[in-house]
Amino acid sequence: MAPVSICNARKSFGAVNVLRGVDVEVADGEFVALVGPSGCGKSTLLRIIAGLEGLTDGDIVIGDRVVSDVAPRERDVAMVFQNYALYPHMTVARNMGFSLKLAGRPAAEIERRVAAAAEILGLQALLQRLPKQLSGGQRQRVAMGRAIVRDPKVFLFDEPLSNLDAKLRVQMRVEIKALHQRLKTTTVYVTHDQIEAMTMADKIVVMRDGIIEQVGSPLDLYDRPANMFVAGFIGSPAMNFVTGALRDGRFMADGGPIFTAEDMQAFGDREVVLGVRPEHFDIHPDGAEVEVVVVEQTGSEMLIVTRLGEATLNCLVRERLRLKSGDRIRLMPRAGHLHYFDPATGQRLGYDEPVTGRGSFSSASSVPSASGHSPSSKAAAGHWMTSIRSMISGRNSYRPEMYYMRGPGPKTRSKRLLDDPAG
Ligand SMILES: Nc1ncnc2c1ncn2[C@@H]1O[C@H](COP(=O)(O)OP(=O)(O)OP(=O)(O)O)[C@@H](O)[C@H]1O
Ligand SMILES: [Mg+2]
Repeated sequence: MAPVSICNARKSFGAVNVLRGVDVEVADGEFVALVGPSGCGKSTLLRIIAGLEGLTDGDIVIGDRVVSDVAPRERDVAMVFQNYALYPHMTVARNMGFSLKLAGRPAAEIERRVAAAAEILGLQALLQRLPKQLSGGQRQRVAMGRAIVRDPKVFLFDEPLSNLDAKLRVQMRVEIKALHQRLKTTTVYVTHDQIEAMTMADKIVVMRDGIIEQVGSPLDLYDRPANMFVAGFIGSPAMNFVTGALRDGRFMADGGPIFTAEDMQAFGDREVVLGVRPEHFDIHPDGAEVEVVVVEQTGSEMLIVTRLGEATLNCLVRERLRLKSGDRIRLMPRAGHLHYFDPATGQRLGYDEPVTGRGSFSSASSVPSASGHSPSSKAAAGHWMTSIRSMISGRNSYRPEMYYMRGPGPKTRSKRLLDDPAG
């Protein structure tokens, strides 16, 4: 076990800047999830921690040792990949013990450590099988076993569950979490699945375009997202956004409807984007009238997709209401649970904690300026306006995750069999 510090990590492939100054502190024994849209640099960062990729600038510290120039094998980390990267011609036992064999460990020790890992993972009965004779979940467990036998200081997981079906994913998620509680090995876990991140991690790092947008506990990010990007990314169905203005303690949406809630006084009169999570709309006679577009029943709850002018608003309720498309209902946002964002920058209003994103979260330089926004976030305002417009336009406010959480799909990573630090 060891803490990991990623200090101002920068990585360019030719002219493309994939990581643009990333700072992350992972405490000893902590489970950190790394999330963000496809292509934002999650795998690159993980590969840099593992030593499979070099840094353009910055440093990686594991324990008290700067490892930026240390070979992967000497970093004492083990990485588990999405495609398992098992050797097809080796049995489960040989796959699991191979790295120890390469390290020249005695046969008896290898056998003992493989047996111990197999017991932790429930693989005892499968040790003599080949990977092709295993299910996806079993293969994933072997890949984890291969990491465990090495007793590394740090586990690195790159979307380890994304090839599994939904049920198995939930089961393996619980197993990995239990494993972490038992071994307490420092873990960095990349995932597209924000439910995975929310349920497994002590701390979530949200990345976009090679920088960090916010770092915090799962509920911090859910309850106090620093900006509209994080607000739209964390939570499913995603947060609703409505553009408009605060006037005399009421919110007037563009296009007419008016919402009132007790906490709308706080920011005076100004333009805002109001953020409301679907579960924080109540159906109430004093609410704003909207039209029901679609009703989705999941059994435990009901998602009501409604239209308000140009915008789509999702409302999640636990009651089973008799509603159909075309009905009109009144929605009232719940005071105390509302989010207000600056339409120009996308930053949360009144966000007075150190800005954890835009490239830095731990250094003093990340303390926001008097206006509450870091200078770089102002510079990004143009970019924000594009994102905000697309988030608000009715089409993707319904399911932003379709835009931000596109699954990477199966990838061919056979090369990693060669450079895998776990192999
Ligand atoms: N070897 C490389 N050469 C050039 N560009 C690369 C290389 N490896 C990664 N990239 C680019 O770096 C960016 C980040 O890639 P990375 O694999 O880290 O993304 P990711 O966040 O893991 O995405 P995903 O969720 O799809 O796995 C992408 O735009 C990718 O095309
Ligand atoms: Mg990736």
